[in-house]
Amino acid sequence: MVITKFNVLIAISLMFLSACGNNKGPETASKLSANCQFTSTKDNSPLAIAVAPSDTDAAKTFLTSCINPYTKLYAKDAEAAKAGKKQYAYQGCSGCHGGNANGLMGPSLIDAKWHYAKHVSDKGLFETIAGGTNGSPPEWGSMLIWHNQVVGHTGEGLDTDTILKIIAWLRTQYVGGGETPWLS
Ligand code: HEC
Repeated sequence: MVITKFNVLIAISLMFLSACGNNKGPETASKLSANCQFTSTKDNSPLAIAVAPSDTDAAKTFLTSCINPYTKLYAKDAEAAKAGKKQYAYQGCSGCHGGNANGLMGPSLIDAKWHYAKHVSDKGLFETIAGGTNGSPPEWGSMLIWHNQVVGHTGEGLDTDTILKIIAWLRTQYVGGGETPWLS
């Protein structure tokens, strides 16, 4: 084979490509997590939630696009939505928010009266469930930290996918009327 400049160029490009291939894992992860930036409901500081190796495709989609894929799925598939209801009860949310999420010592999660305006988006709800609140005014009480990547979480903590399933189920229970921006 005649060695031309072209061949050398191809060889160099191939070496370059395979070198990149070796780093693919961490590089992809950091690129993915950078796309959806979360803000703590406590103090508006950045809430760092990265793609974990065990994350589902739905969790990855959310962390890159801020869109919860389960929300539209559950809206039209009551059978699928049961997975979210199950997690809501199993993780103990019902103890404070009621079995039907219409409120107990914690507020209703299915009416139009949100404690924080950003809760009309799934990203906003995720930020509160993942990172908790300060309880201001104090009579509101405060929400615990639930995400297993956020320091101070309750028990073992929840992964991104579990929180997304719970949010999507809560949306199916919404009785507040008016706009439902999470479905648009
Ligand atoms: C120990 C009691 C307790 C548990 C358990 C609990 N919460 Fe809460 N939650 C609260 C309180 C109190 C607030 C009000 C906090 C505030 O307004 O700052 C709240 C607020 C919220 C809000 C915002 C409501 C609004 O009106 O804007 C959401 C969403 C929420 N919780 C979801 C959950 C989910 C999901 C779980 C289970 C993973 C859960 N909570 C478990 C006590 C609890």
